[in-house]
Amino acid sequence: MADDRLTDDRPATDPHTPATAAARALADERVDHRFKALPPDAEGRTVGELAAERRNLFDGGFTTPVLALSAESVEHNLALMETYAQRHGLAFAPHGKTCMAPQLFARQLEHGAWGITAAVPHQARVYRAHGIARIFLANELVDPAALRWLAAELDADPEFRFACYVDSPRGVELMDAALRAAGARRPVDVVIELGAGEGARTGARTEADCREVAAAVAATTTLRLVGVAGYEGEVPEADHTKVTAWLRRLVALTATFDAEGRFAGVDEIVVSAGGSAWFDAVAEVFAEIPDLSAPVLKLLRSGAYVSHDDGHYRHLTPFNRVPEEGALHPAFRLWAQVVSRPTPHQAFANAGKRDAAYDLDLPQAQVVRSARDGAERPATGVTVTGLSDQHAWLATESADALEVGDWVGMGLSHPCTSFDKWQLIPLVEADGTVVDFIRTFF
Ligand SMILES: Cc1ncc(COP(=O)(O)O)c(C=O)c1O
Repeated sequence: MADDRLTDDRPATDPHTPATAAARALADERVDHRFKALPPDAEGRTVGELAAERRNLFDGGFTTPVLALSAESVEHNLALMETYAQRHGLAFAPHGKTCMAPQLFARQLEHGAWGITAAVPHQARVYRAHGIARIFLANELVDPAALRWLAAELDADPEFRFACYVDSPRGVELMDAALRAAGARRPVDVVIELGAGEGARTGARTEADCREVAAAVAATTTLRLVGVAGYEGEVPEADHTKVTAWLRRLVALTATFDAEGRFAGVDEIVVSAGGSAWFDAVAEVFAEIPDLSAPVLKLLRSGAYVSHDDGHYRHLTPFNRVPEEGALHPAFRLWAQVVSRPTPHQAFANAGKRDAAYDLDLPQAQVVRSARDGAERPATGVTVTGLSDQHAWLATESADALEVGDWVGMGLSHPCTSFDKWQLIPLVEADGTVVDFIRTFF
């Protein structure tokens, strides 16, 4: 970030110093037509120069639609999850696929995160290009080109720490063959993925299947088994009972593998689970992990928490069950302008599927900002009923609810599919001052 919240006071030995430096360097990029909504008259300035102007989102030359990320809410969410993880003895590798924003990764690391989680090789490449020292890839990695790249990264940087899933003997075979062909010198750390039950997504389905995969890993010299992981977010028809039962299977499997000597020689045993819907259950069950033959890295991977939302995660957040531990704040507001008002009950704003998450819920009209005097009022009686590519369909209860030119501020549902529609997102303080811009790499 361009402002002083990204401090340079990390010691040179801190593994996250390069991530902070890479995030700061993004301020040197030029602002131009590639970035939706940025002021046309800012063309050619660097991002840092534009941020230093501290323009106002509403009259600073931004064009609609424009997605705003609340500076205060993001800071609040970062601090809250840092405290939560500390309180429950969890290490944290926030899932970076949510935001794909190196500046937010740097803030997460500054807020105590161990590293950043990825889903696919491209994400890991983005992370490495931005100084991320520890990557947990929550997927099996069987692509030879990606494994060749990984082997080169690991060999070039002894400090780079990486682990990924394995869930099949065939996957192990493919990884081993690709790493041998690449001449990899350092073994790749892997964790066995236990599927979250029948009908769940990836992951070996039974403990016996996991044992087979572990045996396949042990038979290679290119892979090293360091732990066990999975994703409770995919437990079918999840509820507290089913999620904790599955998490207990994960913990029991870890303890059994350890007793069988399958982690012999590792400095740290990794046990990982946890998105943004069940981290309370993860904290509860991971607290039961017994002493093992090496220290345990209990790795939580929530990603959506960073912006939180006004829909899906607002309903699912564990803080609804444990309000005494805090509350996340929704950080996104999408501003669109009314461009057509053909009937008293219909209006159209200029934001659509290109701009707003729509895979889980439609946006929610929250506030209206008058084009006449900038006065804001609640969007009472205004409902988003549909999205076209570039239009929001609005139903209005009364003829005076909206007029052409008004700005409509909308809450969104699903952080992952909100971030990915914007490459440079204004970071905005409560009074409308734009203090920075968050660059994303999808
Ligand atoms: C394997 C895995 N881990 C962690 C997460 C992060 O969960 P959330 O997006 O709820 O924060 C996801 C999200 O899809 C995931 O697939």
